[in-house]
Amino acid sequence: MNSQRPTAPPPLGRTPHHIGIIMDGNGRWAQARSLPRFAGHQAGVDNIRRILESCVEFGVKVLTIYAFSTENWHRPPDEVSGLMRLLGLTIQRQLNELHKNGVRILHSGRMDGISHHLQEQIRHALDVTRYNDRITLNVAFNYGGRAEILDAVRRIIADGIDPEALSEELFSQYLYTSALPDPDLIIRTGGEWRLSNFLIWQAAYAEYYATPTYWPDFDEKELYNALAEYDRRERRFGRVPSPS
Ligand code: IPE
Ligand code: IPE
Ligand code: MG
Repeated sequence: MNSQRPTAPPPLGRTPHHIGIIMDGNGRWAQARSLPRFAGHQAGVDNIRRILESCVEFGVKVLTIYAFSTENWHRPPDEVSGLMRLLGLTIQRQLNELHKNGVRILHSGRMDGISHHLQEQIRHALDVTRYNDRITLNVAFNYGGRAEILDAVRRIIADGIDPEALSEELFSQYLYTSALPDPDLIIRTGGEWRLSNFLIWQAAYAEYYATPTYWPDFDEKELYNALAEYDRRERRFGRVPSPS
């Protein structure tokens, strides 16, 4: 018997249906290697693939990734334009493979402010992959939770909704994520313990998991650890604990 052989991690009981990831730490990852911040963003994009595949293997059906916040416009102009270019390039290079792998792509965020060409690329990616059902990759790009709520309120008013008829369910239908169930688990890499305006309505009862690992280093094993932690949590939704 070989005692050196690594034991397989125990199987997970409950897997989250929808995970949101705040992919933070790209800049520090690059800095630690004396590379420009942009190299960190590129490494970050490469990591999306492996985590997406790993999510499929674990049975996760929706992955929302925070790629660019409404506040990220305040970064230096060359970093902002680099991030815009990176999304365009990623769509160009990876759309076929994502489509072949059964990934449905959604976008959460404002189109205003994004160049006309990039808007076209985003619409094309959504259109091509709209019938795929292996996993949904929802890209939060030019996304802010407060902007999303304001956009919803504006449309509710424009639709002339009777204030008495407005419910949480109806309100959710006006959010960018109307096609999706609420996230069960929010993961933040890079060591901070804050939401930074991510899914502030939808994550009301999500479990929260933070790790110091920078996003480009967040691998399958780290994802497993987050899922195992989720599995150990008891979600109560304001009720009293269930008798064991
Ligand atoms: C997250 O990494 C990616 C984006 C916000 C686009 P950061 O760029 O915030 O990396 P740090 O936090 O500076 O290390
Ligand atoms: C959150 O990271 C936004 C994204 C990951 C896209 P930030 O680095 O922008 O957040 P703060 O500034 O630390 O709150
Ligand atoms: Mg950051």
